[in-house]
Amino acid sequence: MSDTEEHERPADDHSRRSVLKAGAVGAVAVAAPGGLTTIAAGGASGAEHALPSPAPTAEVTLHVNGVERRVAVEARVTLLDALRERLGLTGAKKGCDRGECGACTVLVEGERVTSCMTLAVMEDGREITTVEGLARGDELHPVQEAFIRRDAFQCGFCTSGQIMSAVACVREGHAGSDAEIREWMSGNLCRCGCYPNIVDAVRDAAKGHGK
Ligand code: FES
Ligand code: FES
Repeated sequence: MSDTEEHERPADDHSRRSVLKAGAVGAVAVAAPGGLTTIAAGGASGAEHALPSPAPTAEVTLHVNGVERRVAVEARVTLLDALRERLGLTGAKKGCDRGECGACTVLVEGERVTSCMTLAVMEDGREITTVEGLARGDELHPVQEAFIRRDAFQCGFCTSGQIMSAVACVREGHAGSDAEIREWMSGNLCRCGCYPNIVDAVRDAAKGHGK
């Protein structure tokens, strides 16, 4: 080995250590636009990991079944999740979570709404009725009684949505015939196929035979 080579080896080692150090120091956290904290890894890999910062919450007042409920929710939280997971009202069911089955139907200002398709923040200050708010003490709502009398359910998963939709259907005057009931209840699916009994129940309730 020549003198020149012996002098070059420490320089090479130093160079390798410098690269490793630079890589370690390069893995620093930097704040990125949009509230994301980006950990930029140095060195040859160039990999990046984004850590989301906590989502902002909004204070929302929901008038549910006649009671004012205040809740802090992220802007992305649906009315269905706010009712079920924040307010403990599990009557509205999550079937499809995409507006196709009607299991999550509630009334907002008296109109039926699929609660999985609206955000809680959009319903701030509004009157919301869920299936828990229909009965008056021990006295069931006429539509609830009609569903029981007509045996209009099997597993019951769709039933709260069916009942809420039926309440609105009757109130809207869309229960004049079986065909009309089928049309205006068509947004509520029943996997158990209880449709004939549901139509019977809605017809009864519309005729005031629910009691
Ligand atoms: Fe909302 Fe199915 S869960 S429509
Ligand atoms: Fe089972 Fe309707 S009663 S889905």
